[in-house]
Amino acid sequence: MKNETKETLATSLSADTTELLPFLPYLLQDFWELGSDPEVMLRLIKSHVQLSPETRVLDLACGKGAVSVKLAEKLNIRVKGIDILPEFIAYAGQKAAEHNVAGLCEFISGDINEAVKNERDYDIVIYGAASIVLGEPAQMLGKLKSVIRPGGYILIDEGYLPDGVKQSDVKSAGYELLTERQWSELFIEAGLTLIETVSDDDNETPASGDSETGMAFITARANELILKYPDKKAFFDGYVRGQQSEYDDIENTIECVTWLLKKDL
Ligand SMILES: C[S@@+](CC[C@H](N)C(=O)[O-])C[C@H]1O[C@@H](n2cnc3c(N)ncnc32)[C@H](O)[C@@H]1O
Repeated sequence: MKNETKETLATSLSADTTELLPFLPYLLQDFWELGSDPEVMLRLIKSHVQLSPETRVLDLACGKGAVSVKLAEKLNIRVKGIDILPEFIAYAGQKAAEHNVAGLCEFISGDINEAVKNERDYDIVIYGAASIVLGEPAQMLGKLKSVIRPGGYILIDEGYLPDGVKQSDVKSAGYELLTERQWSELFIEAGLTLIETVSDDDNETPASGDSETGMAFITARANELILKYPDKKAFFDGYVRGQQSEYDDIENTIECVTWLLKKDL
């Protein structure tokens, strides 16, 4: 894997060093959902998109397939999920089988920056909590647009800086966050119409779960790794602190949203 790809992979999973990469599947083994809320994605699609048995969805950086499996199961539509971590893809495949939608789901291990060069004509593309994996925001929107048909839809799960909050107030993000206004301008420039925004504050059950439960899982797994690799204690402790900062930012500093956008005809 290229160094740049490793770095964005680490950032996408809120690890501050690529040295953590081999341990991430272990550290995250207790989670199925890794960022986006599958219920929100489902509701947005049901409310706004006309579906047919021919509808095709592409889930880029699908993680362990929590969104893909939910959509296939509830909407009976075909979903292709791509993620760079083979462990996550194997887990997604198992979940699809458990939920009896293996026939509707295809999960592939790969780099989505390569995949977007070939994938075309989807009705819906999903980009959930994948931050800078597809590049700077304008570049990312261009890549998402390229894989859908005219009139197709984009679902993005992102965080932005609310009014009065500065980048320096954010403890965890390893990249520059935009304001809501900056995002709106980029949508217009890209020829995308914002159909609906769902804020995390509107949800009773945030995808990241409650921070206490999440932190308990992460801390327990990090402690197991510390027992196995005592020389790496500082390194795993740093990861736990980083996760706590991220939960704090999500709860207090950043505005987390899911946007449904439509590509102009
Ligand atoms: C925070 S997780 C979000 C996963 C999923 N979309 C969700 O919301 O549950 C970010 C994902 O991006 C994936 N990722 C990072 N870089 C990638 C790349 N270059 N190609 C494909 N997947 C990548 C990671 O493996 C991870 O599963």
